[in-house]
Amino acid sequence: MSLMLEVKNLKKYFPVERGIFRSSRGFVKALDGVSFKVEKASTLGIVGRSGSGKTTLAKLLVGLIEPTQGEIIYNQRQIKNFRKEVQIIFQNPYQSLNPKMRIRDILREPLAIHCPANKKNFKNMILMTLESVGLDEGILRRYPVEFSGGQRQRICLARSLILRPKFLILDEPVSSLDLTRQVEILDLLKSLKDKFSLTYIFITHNLALLKEISDSIMAIDKGRVVEQPL
Ligand SMILES: Nc1ncnc2c1ncn2[C@@H]1O[C@H](COP(=O)(O)OP(=O)(O)OP(=O)(O)O)[C@@H](O)[C@H]1O
Ligand SMILES: [Mg+2]
Repeated sequence: MSLMLEVKNLKKYFPVERGIFRSSRGFVKALDGVSFKVEKASTLGIVGRSGSGKTTLAKLLVGLIEPTQGEIIYNQRQIKNFRKEVQIIFQNPYQSLNPKMRIRDILREPLAIHCPANKKNFKNMILMTLESVGLDEGILRRYPVEFSGGQRQRICLARSLILRPKFLILDEPVSSLDLTRQVEILDLLKSLKDKFSLTYIFITHNLALLKEISDSIMAIDKGRVVEQPL
């Protein structure tokens, strides 16, 4: 077994203003000293009630926000060298896609940013990725508003996978979908994991679901790891 990720004593305190005159400053300890490890090609399930710090952790892991303290080590390297290999999927695929962009441009954007020298392969990479998430070429000319929730989550997945990441952080990826779509997307995630040898962190408040899909489970509450899932 080799390690994909090691997190050491990770903290994120958000400053907040207190009092009616906003005179005193305080902190919300969204994450308060979390440590864990994730093995390559495994799924770590993270469970916790609303406000426990799950999304804060997800954002820290992909570098969307900076930690107050602590270390995030991917593949024995610091996160800064690893960003394109770690991608995040959010709960709400309606908010995650720019409504003014065609799907083709949404999928081209990460390629143009991260591998501009490879332009002649963009089309191929886009088509291969679309196929792997069960979408066809016809959608490329269309806009996000024209798709259902399940299709949008597939588009989000395609955008994340286009750079061939090693690691996906899935923050409640199916919670906004109806039951049938949930099953479809969960099956798709399973097949993508095998196909691309992916490592997952899967965040949800649904413990029964986590037990089914995770190799190990970590419960957090009030920004700390707790023994018993709540
Ligand atoms: N930008 C911010 N500024 C101030 N406080 C924040 C900020 N982001 C999150 N918090 C606070 O940090 C705590 C953890 O929030 P977080 O979104 O990580 O919870 P969560 O476990 O993802 O909850 P949910 O299950 O509802 O998605 C909450 O108390 C929240 O209000
Ligand atoms: Mg959240």
